[in-house]
Amino acid sequence: EKGGYPHFMLKEIYEQPSTLVDCIRGRINPDTCEVKLSGVIDHREKFVNARRIIFVACGTSWHASLIGEHLIESICRIPVEVEYASEFRYRNPIIREDDIVIAVSQSGETADTLAAVELARKAGAFVFGICNVVGSSIARATDSGAYIHVGPEIGVASTKAFTGQVTVMAMLALAVGRERETVSDAYYHEVSSALLYLPETLEEVLKVAPQVADLAKIFTYAHNFIYLGRGYNYPTALEGALKLKEISYIHAEGYPAAEMKHGPIALIDAEMPTVAIATPDHTYEKTASNIEEIRARGGKIIAVIARDDRQVRRSADYVIEVPVIAECLMPIVVSVPLQLLAYYIAVYKGRNVDQPRNLAKSVTVE
Ligand code: M6R
Repeated sequence: EKGGYPHFMLKEIYEQPSTLVDCIRGRINPDTCEVKLSGVIDHREKFVNARRIIFVACGTSWHASLIGEHLIESICRIPVEVEYASEFRYRNPIIREDDIVIAVSQSGETADTLAAVELARKAGAFVFGICNVVGSSIARATDSGAYIHVGPEIGVASTKAFTGQVTVMAMLALAVGRERETVSDAYYHEVSSALLYLPETLEEVLKVAPQVADLAKIFTYAHNFIYLGRGYNYPTALEGALKLKEISYIHAEGYPAAEMKHGPIALIDAEMPTVAIATPDHTYEKTASNIEEIRARGGKIIAVIARDDRQVRRSADYVIEVPVIAECLMPIVVSVPLQLLAYYIAVYKGRNVDQPRNLAKSVTVE
């Protein structure tokens, strides 16, 4: 059942090229690169006229939602908020009839997310679900939705669901952006063709596994880790840190790189390694100088970079090289080596990777 892998988590990490084929199937035309999501087509007016989109989710699904916020704001020009479902439901939130609430949940059974959905529906909002488990409670409680179709996820640490969620959000943003005429043809084609190539791209990314496994051996000593990223990859940093925390029990924090100087840089010393995401994007130069500041304080740096990177490579102690695709899809690429890093560190520490202590796969109580 683990397909020859020692853990479900590793199997699910390696499955990602094929789960994304399933996620994209029938939704992007390979000849024209046109994106079609039936949940959007059926409710076109709602999306075209939405005044605001509110994501509600927990954990990894919340991190994916932060990426969804960037995608939708930049491609559809609709204001977006991202809420922890558990906070949203108890805050007497302002919900209007022209708001769209998007509930994101792998299991479709998370109690807080389900309660947020019920609250939003009572307030008259249109509620859209991005779930994995077909026929789950959240999928049934929403007005419409798009399944991520990545197959059963057994490992407690979410991996293929995260990449599937971001993929669906990118397709959603393109489909809605097209209807709202807020996306240029050139950008639409750049992103949709990169989505079509995602499975091949992830095959390529997975080749770093042996090197990441070697790196993991070096860092089992650490008690604390910092993960840094900016823009689309700030949520990727949060997600990388969550993966490490939940399966290795090493404390890790994700930060937007520029926030370091507002406090957390005080933590940096030779014992506090930093995983820095520094793939090419419009904040690359800034990230590079944030990394320099860490190096100047004696911090060890593992940098995730492009193969042809010259600058950050010089400040980093170790590098993980990844292929580069459209900036807004880089979280899908970068999250894979971060999943592997957490996995191998946890394995070398002898942790129960698939069933970490104190955690359940779906949190059906609040
Ligand atoms: O099933 P859901 O997506 O609603 O679950 C939400 C979180 O409980 C889940 O993502 C959790 O954070 C994972 N263990 C993270 O790996």
